[in-house]
Amino acid sequence: PTVFVITPTYARLVQKAELTRLSQTFLHVPQLHWIVVEDSPQKTPLVSDLLKKSGLIYTHLHVPTAKDQKLQEGDPNWLKPRGVQQRNEGLRWLREDRRAEAGADNYGVVYFADDDNTYSLQVFEEMRSTQRVSVWPVGLVGGMKYERPVVEGGKVVRFHTGWRPNRPFPMDMAGFAVSLKLVLANPDACFDGNAPMGFLESSFLQGLVTIDELEPKADNCTKVLVWHTRTEKPKMKREEAMQAQGLGSDPALEV
Ligand code: UGA
Ligand code: MN
Repeated sequence: PTVFVITPTYARLVQKAELTRLSQTFLHVPQLHWIVVEDSPQKTPLVSDLLKKSGLIYTHLHVPTAKDQKLQEGDPNWLKPRGVQQRNEGLRWLREDRRAEAGADNYGVVYFADDDNTYSLQVFEEMRSTQRVSVWPVGLVGGMKYERPVVEGGKVVRFHTGWRPNRPFPMDMAGFAVSLKLVLANPDACFDGNAPMGFLESSFLQGLVTIDELEPKADNCTKVLVWHTRTEKPKMKREEAMQAQGLGSDPALEV
């Protein structure tokens, strides 16, 4: 089955670097369809060109995050969830475009891949056999070395997480995949941008599965195959100083 990867992305200094790294990982994954959803009022040339040259099968979408839901400069980043409307737009596209095409044996798997995480190739092979919802550990997340579902007798019985373990699904976005069949069968399942902090993943999964039905991957959730890495915001002190002297970098040169 095809793996449909939904990636929300937004313009910032490191965007091209992030998308370059991600696209070059995906080039190594067979049968991957990349759904890139820009958080912007229009598709940008930077992302359009990058996708065109990427060599990947892709769909390019965009939807701006409503102003009242967007982080403002200086807000702590946990204040509002990010990438919500973009993931929902990816789901909307899948439901419209794939409903007709999804036959008994060309169903796929849906995975939400943020643009800054680090993905091993193995995680895509693990998720390919997803029947409903599959799960695995995520490294470097939640203030811990890893978070993971704990598996006993082949079933998820609880979660190793330091923070609000009583959430319905105390998992990071990078730690699960959903079968396209299940997505199509539940046309209203989506991410709730108003969900309390940490409940974004739960808001989507709650309508789709029970803990008991989760399919553990990565050797019964004992291997870390994806990392919640975050990229440092580059400092532009010199750039600003140079600009003040009329010696700033060429704005026409894409970075
Ligand atoms: C954590 C989780 O790993 C995310 O899946 C979750 O969406 C996020 O928290 C949340 O609480 O909303 P974190 O590293 O803190 O992730 O978030 P980012 O990587 O900054 O953003 C997640 C995704 O949304 C990225 O793909 C990013 O490009 C995108 N994004 C971010 C936007 O589309 N618009 C924005 O304004 C900010
Ligand atoms: Mn991130």
